[in-house]
Amino acid sequence: MPSATNVVDGRAIAAQIQSELAARVASLKQRGVVPGLAFVRVGEDPASKVYVGRKEKACAELGIVSETHVLPEATSEADLLTLIGKLNATAHVHGILVQAPLPKHIRESVVFATVLPTKDVDGFHPVNVGKLMLGDDTGFKPCTPAGVVELLIRSGVKTDGAEVVVLGRGNIVGKPMAAMLCQKGKAANATVTICHSATRDIKAHCRRADIIVAAMGVAEFVKADMVKPGAVIMDVGVNRVPDATSKTGTKLVGDVDFANVQPIAGRITPNPGGVGPMTIAMLLQNTVRAAEQAAS
Ligand code: GUN
Repeated sequence: MPSATNVVDGRAIAAQIQSELAARVASLKQRGVVPGLAFVRVGEDPASKVYVGRKEKACAELGIVSETHVLPEATSEADLLTLIGKLNATAHVHGILVQAPLPKHIRESVVFATVLPTKDVDGFHPVNVGKLMLGDDTGFKPCTPAGVVELLIRSGVKTDGAEVVVLGRGNIVGKPMAAMLCQKGKAANATVTICHSATRDIKAHCRRADIIVAAMGVAEFVKADMVKPGAVIMDVGVNRVPDATSKTGTKLVGDVDFANVQPIAGRITPNPGGVGPMTIAMLLQNTVRAAEQAAS
């Protein structure tokens, strides 16, 4: 992790959240309830294997029991829905996470809508998406944007009245991120602009922003001349690019040109060690909450 003081340490903040959750897991265990999370992975997408592996490890460290169901790439949508139906009906499974992306022949929207809303720790079910839009906190919120909000809160960034630019309009990050930050309430109340591939002048929007959330999946897209000095930069991107100096011939970079943006930013997340650990912390939090709600 770079040592500059404006770099937000996502690993440390995630560790803090996990220690807070440990107390809740202990109190559930005293009542005879062990939080349970089922992962479903279809096919052998290398990035998905890494992500699910990290989530399994984090569950084990916190005392959440996880089980992983790996289905072949050619699995039919019907067979996947059957598995989800079984997990919906399994009492010790409090949360279900179907790792995206799914193979092209499987409709993600149908799969996400099949997970019980009360076990939807990803916050992708239409009921939970609807609750987010309505400002109803009884639903589950998607982990990555929820993690960004938590990073902003815990690093002392005020969002009230702030100009926020969200780069990217995906269902997993961009759209829910915008919904969370424009909501009336704590750690929200921002003026939010979503930019995407058809936006005419992204640079002009970015230069006005007090906070930029970069989640469009384009390696090092946000350059220093797009950033107002002092702006807060949350980098959600994970992009593999060629790198002749690395043993693998590739390296991971974010959606932000970190080396050149960090010196002028007010605060900035590194990559790795920024938003990624927070996604996992929010998944653990949603799972503990799902178990608490099932036990009450
Ligand atoms: N793929 C990329 N991000 C996510 C996520 O937060 N949840 C799931 N299920 N799949 C993803």
